[in-house]
Amino acid sequence: MKRVTKRPVKRRVTPARRGRRPVMTMPELMREAVKARGRAYAPYSRFPVGAALLLADGTVVQGCNVENASYGLAACAERTAMWKAISEGRTGFVAIAITAREGEGAPPCGSCRQVLHEFAPNLRVVWRDARGRLRERPLHELLPNAFRFARKGNR
Ligand code: THU
Repeated sequence: MKRVTKRPVKRRVTPARRGRRPVMTMPELMREAVKARGRAYAPYSRFPVGAALLLADGTVVQGCNVENASYGLAACAERTAMWKAISEGRTGFVAIAITAREGEGAPPCGSCRQVLHEFAPNLRVVWRDARGRLRERPLHELLPNAFRFARKGNR
């Protein structure tokens, strides 16, 4: 009878273990953002957005935009993801992928850039342009000369 030998399970290496290689490819992270977009609540703008925030340990935190009848209260997908992460005690932000529907480019808005910068100035920001191509820039390039407090209170 043929002997079956057990092969070791292939594990994805964390960046800490092997240089700075991400635990997930950017197209994979974008697929997580697409899933999140499926849960967007955008009946007013009809512009659903999904975001997926990647952590160094491989965790992905998803976010979608959540609108309100009082229009100004709309929450962007990127901020939803970051606030979920921070409120759950997460750190080690590596990348964020953002997507709107096909044919609609979705680079992060200025307010989201500022919020993301607070926690991860070197974050890899990946979005889809109107032609569906993946674009990527480090956050500090998307928000040069960002506002920061030199002195921080509780951290
Ligand atoms: N939106 C996002 O979710 N992220 C952005 O970076 C830009 C805009 C949302 C907010 C609103 O629900 C809809 O897109 C239209 O502005």
